[in-house]
Amino acid sequence: MAGRALLSSHNSLSAIATFSSVCRPTNRLAPYHFRRLRRLAEPFVLTTPLYYVNAPPHMGSAYTTIAADAIARFQALVRPINSKAARGRPPEVEKRKTRGERETKESFSPIVLHQRLLGKNVIFITGTDEHGEKIATAAEANGRNPKEHCDAVSEAYKMLWKELDVAYDKFIRTTDPRHEGIVEEFYSRVFSNGDIYRADYEGLYCINCEEYKDEKELLENNCCPMHLKPCALRKEDNYFFALSKYQKLLEEHLMNNSNFVKPTFRLNEVQGWIKSGLKDFSISRSSVEWGIPVPNDEKQTIYVWFDALLGYVSALLDEDAHPSLEKAVDAGWPASLHLIGKDILRFHAVYWPAMLMSAGINPPKMVFGHGFLTKDGLKMGKTLGNTLEPKDLVDRFGSDAVRYFFLREVEFGNDGDFSEDRFININNAHLANTIGNLLNRTLGLLKKNCQSTLAFDSDSAAEGNMFKDTVEKLVKKAKDYYENLSLSSACDSVLEIGNTGNLYIDERAPWSLFKQGGSSYETAAKDLVLILEALRIIAVALSPVAPSLCFRIYSQLGFSKDQFEATTWADTKWGGLKVGSVMAEPKPVFARIETEKEGGVVAKTGGVQQTSKVQGKNRGQGLPQAA
Ligand code: MSP
Repeated sequence: MAGRALLSSHNSLSAIATFSSVCRPTNRLAPYHFRRLRRLAEPFVLTTPLYYVNAPPHMGSAYTTIAADAIARFQALVRPINSKAARGRPPEVEKRKTRGERETKESFSPIVLHQRLLGKNVIFITGTDEHGEKIATAAEANGRNPKEHCDAVSEAYKMLWKELDVAYDKFIRTTDPRHEGIVEEFYSRVFSNGDIYRADYEGLYCINCEEYKDEKELLENNCCPMHLKPCALRKEDNYFFALSKYQKLLEEHLMNNSNFVKPTFRLNEVQGWIKSGLKDFSISRSSVEWGIPVPNDEKQTIYVWFDALLGYVSALLDEDAHPSLEKAVDAGWPASLHLIGKDILRFHAVYWPAMLMSAGINPPKMVFGHGFLTKDGLKMGKTLGNTLEPKDLVDRFGSDAVRYFFLREVEFGNDGDFSEDRFININNAHLANTIGNLLNRTLGLLKKNCQSTLAFDSDSAAEGNMFKDTVEKLVKKAKDYYENLSLSSACDSVLEIGNTGNLYIDERAPWSLFKQGGSSYETAAKDLVLILEALRIIAVALSPVAPSLCFRIYSQLGFSKDQFEATTWADTKWGGLKVGSVMAEPKPVFARIETEKEGGVVAKTGGVQQTSKVQGKNRGQGLPQAA
């Protein structure tokens, strides 16, 4: 078996040897993937977890999805085969006035995206995990049948992604009959390989984790350490997956693929689990009706994880293709990156690769386990009921502020506590002041002194000027950080361009130079071009994180929506602004958020003032105070 050719050596995410170099599957079925080791344009397949629909989304679920969207947008920028017009800024413009603060909002239809992105280079998958006991219980509590319940909650997820400018390519629901077909085929494949057997099991079960627990890991009264709820004793006759058979292969896989689990400290954790000995796990339930029936045993349903993980594969199916594992795998597997929270690392980094090995399919290339958004040190979540409403945050502050804050503030991989004071301060300092205000005052000066017209190309304006070199170095840093999934540092590097611009304009004081006339006037006109070019570069480099804001910046610089959509990372190269270009009327692109104490209004994004009052700090959410 040969190893898979690596797509791009400069990309650390690609620098991952694959399972094929170590796996020696014992299955009798022909491992069809080995016949297709080389695909010409291997896509970058990125996934979020498939969210449980027992309750509507909260900020914890939104966090992974925002991060995934930023990474997908970045990858689309650096892989321009995937037409930018198809990602992030689809064509449809939807007029809506639902939130007061925005007159219009460029929107998109995931369906349009889905159609346009088929076969393209970045495939961003999200979706919902809809089977299992806790979903059935939640449906009953809401007076709905499970199907109606799942329809309503999965729709709520889609709505939120729209609000947050999340431009996914595929939304998979595990109740989709095509997915169910894939799960059945996968189960049968693993069964034929001799890795499924039947046995009795007795143990303590956490319904929120949907997992039998080891007594050693439980708190007092057999409480689950994650959900702080008691586990119930259960005895069932179940089907088991022979995970223990894969101990050696998993050890080898981790040894040969040091990037398989990221960040590195989580790899150590996974190695620890494997070293301590892998136990077979139960993959069916006899007591749960709301699930996919076990092939050849209608009395049992397939365990939610053995169902949901396959969603990453079935999502790849073309809409009109006959649903088969082979077709799905051919459409882009293995995934380049699974983004998950640390609580589901074991499922993704131990169970899932072993399941795939059993079926003769390559494991994903990388699993990145991020930290938790916490409240008072406890994981924010539906079970503890200590959640933060993302929709409320977007309604009050706009999608850019929410995206920027969580991606900049929480070091990706670590936990982070939310504080509304900090949220406001960071957004005001970075987006409103450093970037927004720099753009506004530069355009103001240009309007006053140059009729809003550039007197030089940015290339000629920068001749012999170190400012350009500084910007170029910072952009390079930002790219490296994005590639390493250090999203917070990527934001910082871009912000640093804004800081450099502010320092430069303050030092040079073009407002005085204009007054002096002659060559000083010319110097001042050049300086304004330099700053505007830096802002143009910021708009491209920050667009994965704050796409709407960056579009507003780009249009203030005289570019059309189509031009913005067509940008690639190559547009961060110095030299995009041309002599004679006319800039737009200066308008705030990100207005300062004011608290009641400061001014009685909350200013919103989009340059449109909103007059709703903030009723005191941490209104109605019981949020923790500034850390
Ligand atoms: N359905 C499973 C995933 C199956 S993937 C094939 C599941 N769903 S979940 O809705 O409970 O969680 C989905 C993701 O949200 C997990 O990655 C989890 O870590 C993440 N988060 C839930 N609460 C979170 C925080 N408070 N902070 C950050 N992420 C959190 O598990």
